[in-house]
Amino acid sequence: MAIFPTDRPRRSRLVITGAAGGIGKMIRGKLDHIADEIVLSDLTDVSCSGNERSQTCDLADLDAVRALLKGGGDVLHFGGQSTEAPFERILNANLIGSYNLYEAARLEGVRRVLFASSNHVIGFHPRETLLDADSPMRPDSLYGVSKVYGEGLAHLYHDKFGIESLLLRIGSCFKEPSDRRQLATWMSPQDMIHAIERFVMVPRLGCPVVYGRSNNSENWWDNSKTDYLGWNPQDTAEVFRGKVEAATEVPSPLDPAVKYQGGAFVTADHPGTKEE
Ligand SMILES: NC(=O)c1ccc[n+]([C@@H]2O[C@H](COP(=O)([O-])OP(=O)(O)OC[C@H]3O[C@@H](n4cnc5c(N)ncnc54)[C@H](O)[C@@H]3O)[C@@H](O)[C@H]2O)c1
Repeated sequence: MAIFPTDRPRRSRLVITGAAGGIGKMIRGKLDHIADEIVLSDLTDVSCSGNERSQTCDLADLDAVRALLKGGGDVLHFGGQSTEAPFERILNANLIGSYNLYEAARLEGVRRVLFASSNHVIGFHPRETLLDADSPMRPDSLYGVSKVYGEGLAHLYHDKFGIESLLLRIGSCFKEPSDRRQLATWMSPQDMIHAIERFVMVPRLGCPVVYGRSNNSENWWDNSKTDYLGWNPQDTAEVFRGKVEAATEVPSPLDPAVKYQGGAFVTADHPGTKEE
């Protein structure tokens, strides 16, 4: 963990939404050096260890989200719909859910949120384009659009109320990369932990966009505008290249899922209204 002379001290409270999910499982039990109390939240109870405790909360219920954030602390907002889905699901979990999260933060005095955004806010950019924090959004799905909305909320609550957010556009945060695209987009669990440490400790956060990827040889995303955070990913997907290439076919370069950064999301069925 990088510690700078001006870093914020250990926090008294850290709240994690979506704690039962894939990323939640990988970070649970590994953050006790950051905060005195860690509140794990999801739709159902989450098993706890050490200084963790569980509090259930449906993000679509503002009163429940207010109860979760009563007592303040920093928030890791991982909860919500994490793939493409019918609009109603996205509406409740991601649109209403993120609104409730930021409203509750404002009302309960939370000052810092890590917003789990996604590479799918820029999924329709070609892979040859090196993107940075100021690149235009090109969402590849209703899911991606919901993350555009979440990033917009984060900016509003920063500019109007001073609530700081890290807009972490996560690539593919899994134990290891499982396909060729993930050789570029993979973010290791340990690099996620480091990003969370810097989110909590950096003295002035603001509301920056950061692409969540490890130090991969193939790279579509430039994070140099956020060097001030002190986040330097250490892992690389390259160590898995042989295994991934042996297990997967060479895809056609003409496949839109290969041409565009969003991969399979750009060709996935649109879950819109069906014609009668
Ligand atoms: N894993 C990745 O590689 C990746 C990539 C890009 C973005 N993200 C984002 O990071 C976050 C975490 O990803 P993940 O892979 O752990 O997702 P996940 O689907 O495994 O976990 C999401 C969790 O949110 C909870 N949830 C859903 N709706 C809820 C609601 N209404 N109220 C409360 N909780 C609710 C679910 O129960 C689940 O446990 C998501 O917001 C996702 O969009 C993840």
